Amino acid sequence: MRNLYVPTKAVIEKIKTQTHDTKTFTIKPANGEKFDFEPGQFNMVSLLGYGEAPISISSSPDNKKTFDHTIRFVGSLTNTMEKHKEGSIVGIRGPYGSSWPVEEAKGKNVIFVAGGIGLAPLRPFIMQMFHDRDSYGKIQILYGARGTGEMLFTDEFNEWKKHSDTELHLTVDKLEEGEKWDHTVGVVTVLYDVAKLDPANTIAVICGPEIMMRFACRSLLKKGFYAPQIYLSLERRMKCGVGKCGHCQLGSKFVCKDGPVFRYDEAKEFHDTLL
Ligand SMILES: Cc1cc2nc3c(=O)[nH]c(=O)nc-3n(C[C@H](O)[C@H](O)[C@H](O)COP(=O)(O)OP(=O)(O)OC[C@H]3O[C@@H](n4cnc5c(N)ncnc54)[C@H](O)[C@@H]3O)c2cc1C
Ligand code: FES
Repeated sequence: MRNLYVPTKAVIEKIKTQTHDTKTFTIKPANGEKFDFEPGQFNMVSLLGYGEAPISISSSPDNKKTFDHTIRFVGSLTNTMEKHKEGSIVGIRGPYGSSWPVEEAKGKNVIFVAGGIGLAPLRPFIMQMFHDRDSYGKIQILYGARGTGEMLFTDEFNEWKKHSDTELHLTVDKLEEGEKWDHTVGVVTVLYDVAKLDPANTIAVICGPEIMMRFACRSLLKKGFYAPQIYLSLERRMKCGVGKCGHCQLGSKFVCKDGPVFRYDEAKEFHDTLL
């Protein structure tokens, strides 16, 4: 029987710089096996001697040969990852966790609300919708970052906007002195009025820092959305990634196994969150 905790070897095929502290790594299983996942799921990524960390998959689920991890360099494992080159080996366990409501969204309008690196776990869902564009209604992507240099996937934005009935609205918390910016300044919820959100036949999916998700969800309720129309992805420190160790427990749920994607009406009942 296969040991759940033994990672599979994988090779970094390509590295793309996103911002001063974030890169996207395109990774391929070393055994050549196909890699299937659902948008919203994550892998436990490991480096020998530096442990493991949960990292969302940020590529399109249609590509089964490789997958992307968009990683911000913040600590022991991720800072070591930054030094890795194309051809380096990493360990992968996964994919794990729940996914965005891709099926439920069919026939509906979808609003994406992303903060900073929170756009990475949403990107597979966005890609999937573009791939199957006729199955969904209007797409509104609202993306906020601390500054213009903190935004991910900026080189794809023009392509995203070319899809039918698709809007992309951008905002930054603040601008540097003299910096030019053709979009909005302010926290991501200022985009709710810019985008003229309509709750009818719509679901909203949100990913970003927990405090941002608190305001993003509460402002949607004020706009007439019901909690069951809203989905979000929670982050907790993890060890096993498969619901065994209890590290990521929230109430009776495990973020690694029952999440990371939860419906807002369920997530807001958890005690230890900022929601
Ligand atoms: C489901 C999920 C998906 C994720 N997806 C992504 C992703 O796509 N991209 C990405 O970049 N990150 C993602 N993360 C976050 C990532 O897993 C963490 O940032 C992870 O801790 C990085 O590991 P590290 O060893 O580099 O950092 P660590 O060494 O673990 O340190 C990370 C940060 O946590 C602090 N810290 C260290 N130990 C503790 C502790 N015991 N308690 C509290 N704080 C502590 C450190 O000071 C540092 O600021 C995701 C997390 C989850 C749960
Ligand atoms: S990380 Fe072990 S139960 Fe979630």
